[in-house]
Amino acid sequence: MTKAKMPRSFNDRMFALRLERSRDDLFGMLERLYGHRTDYAAFADDLTAALKAGWDARPERLKWRDMERDLEPDWFQRPDMNGYVFYIDRFAGTLSGVPDKLGYLQDLGITYVHFMPCLKPRPGDSDGGYSVMDYTEVNPALGTMDDLETVARACHDRGMSVCIDLVLNHTAKEHEWARKAWEGDETYREYYHMFVDDTLPKSYEATLVEVFPANAPGNFTYYDEINRWVWTTFNEHQWDLNWANPRVFLEMVKVMLFLANKGVDVLRLDAPAFLWKRMGTRCQSEPEVHMLLQALRAASRISAPSVIHLEEAIVSPAEMLPYLGRGEHDGKEGNLAYHNSLMVQFWSALAARDTGLMTHVLRRHFPTVLTNATYATYIRCHDDIGWAVTDEDAAAVGLSGASHRAFLSEFYEGRFPGSFARGALFQVNEETGDKRISGTTASLAGLEAALEAGDQDAIARAVDRILMGHALIASYGGIPLVYMGDELAQLNDYSYLDDPDLAHDSRWLHRPRMDWQRAARLPDGGATPEGQVYDGIRRILARRAASPGLHGAVPTEIVDTGQAGHFAFVRRAPTGPIVCVFNFTDQWSGLPAAWFARQGASRMYDLLSDAPVFAPDGGVPLPPYARVWMT
Ligand code: GLC
Repeated sequence: MTKAKMPRSFNDRMFALRLERSRDDLFGMLERLYGHRTDYAAFADDLTAALKAGWDARPERLKWRDMERDLEPDWFQRPDMNGYVFYIDRFAGTLSGVPDKLGYLQDLGITYVHFMPCLKPRPGDSDGGYSVMDYTEVNPALGTMDDLETVARACHDRGMSVCIDLVLNHTAKEHEWARKAWEGDETYREYYHMFVDDTLPKSYEATLVEVFPANAPGNFTYYDEINRWVWTTFNEHQWDLNWANPRVFLEMVKVMLFLANKGVDVLRLDAPAFLWKRMGTRCQSEPEVHMLLQALRAASRISAPSVIHLEEAIVSPAEMLPYLGRGEHDGKEGNLAYHNSLMVQFWSALAARDTGLMTHVLRRHFPTVLTNATYATYIRCHDDIGWAVTDEDAAAVGLSGASHRAFLSEFYEGRFPGSFARGALFQVNEETGDKRISGTTASLAGLEAALEAGDQDAIARAVDRILMGHALIASYGGIPLVYMGDELAQLNDYSYLDDPDLAHDSRWLHRPRMDWQRAARLPDGGATPEGQVYDGIRRILARRAASPGLHGAVPTEIVDTGQAGHFAFVRRAPTGPIVCVFNFTDQWSGLPAAWFARQGASRMYDLLSDAPVFAPDGGVPLPPYARVWMT
């Protein structure tokens, strides 16, 4: 920029600098997406004005936060980042109840909180809040935008970052844009995918998959009143936005900056895989999706630089990585993305008592390091578990994909002989045979059945499975997310069946209300299974925070122990490797000290238990569901 053009005020100069830093990342993509349109120049001007307006409106407090995070751009990769995910109503009643609960979270070691959908949903069934009718208002049942701002500030004061959902793929059909489209406003009809007859919908449908085959079959809905077909990938009330229209991009940037300026640090971009439609494809993860996501990321980087993006792409392993920026998007797309494969493989290996597939998938598809990005790791979330295991990956380890997926569903439904799990099916697809699973961590890991049977050994094993899972996600690389109530070992909640708005959706099985009475009795010195789980998770998070070698930028290299029940990786930290081993079986096993030494861990100190490991026979004993982080 020449001197003459340099703006005078500090604020304007800062904006100019930030715009220049990311101009190519933004407009480079937008020109390719929209440059052919006659309205492109006007759009580009409007976008620049929106970015400037967003920056001008940004509170000074948050501009300091921007500065801080410019100075420590790895903040979200640090090992003291520990996440917690909750529904505001089920956790604290309303937003104004949240500050009182932050002490509890801080005590658990939490530095990142994800409030499940909290923007104004449509009335009635809103897909758990993912059917949004106003992005600029908070769900009135939870509070107001001012409350959100207050809570975000309270979190910041405690050193916690705040994440909220931003649904990009669709709005509720009650959203103002959709209402205008309904009334015939052509400008707003362009915001959605509307068709006068079913010719195109039928052609698209030939290659589309169904997300909710059981209760929302098909991807299009016909409305007699307007004589139009509307693209509705998810539920009928969720209308897909038309991202080929640059006005949609512009609207969403305004929404993003509005939310960022309320103090949100992390935007969880919901279901981004579906943003771009292309005839003859599944309309998932098309190249344009990554261009859009890079451009959105650049927009945040310009006008709300401390904000990062978490991408929710629940797709196959190979398809997921690009959401963290691959190829030309390297380092420029999602800062975070859910590691769905790690979650799926955890449950798969637990059921199979064999880690062959897990080791294959995680080694084959995932690089040892990511640029300017890391995973959000988890063992359970608010959604079902879909068995994202491809036929190719299964075949590579001698399994049939279809049989293994069927086995996993049966196992976690609790029907497979010898299964320890209690779960429920979700969205059985009669055509493909695909079955997904709902259930809480504790119930899927065997605690519900063990408690019912009064079987002390089985209870102990369930607790160990849960803690092994948490030790895995806390060390693999990425921000581990504790899903509300999991730290209390909360079991399945069958009460959703009595609520007509929820009964059709078994995901409510694992969305129980927070059991504060139970929480009040903890810690209990390990007297109860929930006490053991709570202490165990708290300790895992504390040990993670105290282990610099678990930083997200440290390579994760999958290694073999030579035993079918072990999963192992080495975090190759500059300060020396950390060798993480997990025993996925209910049998005792062991590993020679020499094996650890070969991986570089000759000190034989377990960071997780914070104690030296004595290996009298030269072997490290690994009890059922053991977990060690050896240095
Ligand atoms: C995401 C959410 C899920 C929701 C869907 C549609 O996958 O996690 O709960 O049903 O998007 O918005």
